Amino acid sequence: MKHSILTLTLMAGMGITLTACQQPASTEKPNPLLAHEDEITEIISGMSLEEKVNMLHAKHMFSSAGIERLNIADIEYADGPFGIREEMEPDSWMPLGWATDSATFFPTGSALAATWSEDMAYQYGKGMAAEAYLRGKDMILGPAMNIQRIPTGGRTYEYLSEDPLLSGALAVGYTLGAQDNGRAVCLKHYAVNSQENMRGFVNAVVSERALREIYLPPFEAAVKEANAYGVMAAYNKVAGDWCSENDRLLNKILRDEWGFRGIVISDWGGTHSTVKAALGGLDVEMPNDRYFGQALIDSVNAGVVPMTVIDQKVRNLLRVRFAVDPVPADVANKQMTSQPPQQKIAYEVASRSIVLLKNEGLLPIDAQKVKTIAVIGDNATRRMSQGGVGAGVKALYEITPLQGLQKALEGTGITLKHAQGYMVPSRMRRNAKNAAAQAKEVKATNKKLAKEAVALAKEADLVIFVGGDNREVETEGSDRKNIDLPAGQDELIKAIAQANPNLVTVMVVGAPVDLRTVNSCTKSLLISWFNGSEGGHALADVLTGKISPSGKLPFTFPAKLEDSPAYSLGVYPQKEPAKSGDVFVNLVNRDKFEAEMKADADYAEGIFVGYRWYTTKQVKPLYPFGYGLSYTQFQYSDLQAKPGKDVVEVSFTLSNTGNMDAEEVAQVYIARPQSAIERPAIELKGFKRIALKKGESQTVTLSIPMEKLRHWDEAQGGWALEAGPAVVYAGCSSDNLPLKAEITLAR
Ligand code: BGC
Repeated sequence: MKHSILTLTLMAGMGITLTACQQPASTEKPNPLLAHEDEITEIISGMSLEEKVNMLHAKHMFSSAGIERLNIADIEYADGPFGIREEMEPDSWMPLGWATDSATFFPTGSALAATWSEDMAYQYGKGMAAEAYLRGKDMILGPAMNIQRIPTGGRTYEYLSEDPLLSGALAVGYTLGAQDNGRAVCLKHYAVNSQENMRGFVNAVVSERALREIYLPPFEAAVKEANAYGVMAAYNKVAGDWCSENDRLLNKILRDEWGFRGIVISDWGGTHSTVKAALGGLDVEMPNDRYFGQALIDSVNAGVVPMTVIDQKVRNLLRVRFAVDPVPADVANKQMTSQPPQQKIAYEVASRSIVLLKNEGLLPIDAQKVKTIAVIGDNATRRMSQGGVGAGVKALYEITPLQGLQKALEGTGITLKHAQGYMVPSRMRRNAKNAAAQAKEVKATNKKLAKEAVALAKEADLVIFVGGDNREVETEGSDRKNIDLPAGQDELIKAIAQANPNLVTVMVVGAPVDLRTVNSCTKSLLISWFNGSEGGHALADVLTGKISPSGKLPFTFPAKLEDSPAYSLGVYPQKEPAKSGDVFVNLVNRDKFEAEMKADADYAEGIFVGYRWYTTKQVKPLYPFGYGLSYTQFQYSDLQAKPGKDVVEVSFTLSNTGNMDAEEVAQVYIARPQSAIERPAIELKGFKRIALKKGESQTVTLSIPMEKLRHWDEAQGGWALEAGPAVVYAGCSSDNLPLKAEITLAR
């Protein structure tokens, strides 16, 4: 943006002087949002109330207005979070059918998280920024980063992890990658949007300690460590107040405590008032002007919303506008959105995300022994870039598992044959009036498909079953009813294993599923996620041994759903009011809906989310947090841990003692055995992805900031470091920590 001419023009019209906010002490780099404070003061001083309010609500479905008179461009928003969404009509969800808006489909959130790599997250953000730029977009509506609290959560596949440190590190990487490359992020959904059922009105009742230690830290990290420019207020309520008018979350914590200087936008249709939202910290109402249009002008004129509040919102918007240059008209939408450098990033992420859970000798595929492979399963050929409700990408291309294998095995003499094996009826079919008749039809089809699959399995040397969920099963707007594999896959797998015990299973999922049956009848088992445009290539490279698998689970796979914390305590699912439905559906009957729909979500497990629960309560999961095998072996030795004034320095030796170059994610957990405070058995405090050639060793060093060892003291209402003994563990997963060192922490 050219500021100089603008500044001169505006010098004349100055009036009110506005106080610029101080930069937070905790931010190390100068905050680019604060680079134009004086200029912004001048601009605001020359604006009418109407002009100001015009900026504080949607202009179109995915934009908010700039200041035309001053040549200040609109802000263009782009969903996010795993690829730039196709262009739609300005005020509807109807695609425009453009020829150039096909984007790269990046691996979804849980896949990115399985890389355990801030560097990969940085590349991911950089890739998203490059494509946002080509499409003329300023702010990416991502990363989506709520804590994966329940295994059934509809948006688990979009979110990152059940652990706040891992989620935070990845959100920081994504944010820096996008913002260093000229685009803004919008962290979503702030806060505690950890369930989709009743998301439009549910009230999260969560202890202050759990809020501070589990649900807020990823947002806090991306604000403090990466200067995120945008935050999206979640649909739900926290402690009785909607997130979009939650003074405590938005004003006190986000802005005053963490020093956030960017914009808070509502989730789409998530604004519920004018005065309370205006005073409560919301800057922009999306995607309409129901509360922040004329009603806001009237509220200012009536003296119930001070002009200073409006000015601050305009300031926040202009800060973002000045920090992100608008895309020139001769660049925007002139070439295809998806470009090779971003496709390469999608591959790099996907190839590090695949998690090997079990391998009894079948992998990597031995081309000497295997001549025929039966690839069975609907997910072998299904594209995952779109489907269900919400986030989706019109992908330029998406390599399916079958296509990936076909390409990788070209010229090897291995024959590949495919059978669909099962079909998952689409949502529309499931909800149709004649559902019973359709269910019968689906059952008959599945019987036929299973028969064909078993026959194919019998003929093959090796079976690769590619199943799991799909994008209709895992979807925004509703949680899954259970974690069972859809369409009778358990029964099918049993039959296939009986026909041919040489069975490799690939689970294409974004969230935990019940793997007990699969696990017991398959020799090798992998999780390959909703893995983006290059997912099929990455999977084939792992299966054929071109690369070693190196992904680690970013969440626990419980043995059964009832073992997971909220289910075990009986606080999820909650009783749903009749006819509640999803937030979009209810926009029509909104007033009635808001008055009548009430439900509390009791976060009774407190800080014991994910592995914190399983390790403390000694409930054995099927596969634990942080778990993932390799084709090589890694050895951990020589742990040293030294507490200093600001950090605990941890070092150990990691050796690749196997036969293949590979990457490993080393993990450090801390326990406080004699603590006077209730604590999880272990907590992740550091991790590092390391590439080692076969036979190579490396000293791994990690610095754990002392402030990451604090707990939230409910009585004092603040952070506290408990002095006393601590145990530092290092290893390859939360349940495999061979190294141990005892230290004493001083206050
Ligand atoms: C989702 C957001 C999304 C927005 C715009 C909402 O329903 O919760 O994550 O960015 O729609 O598509």
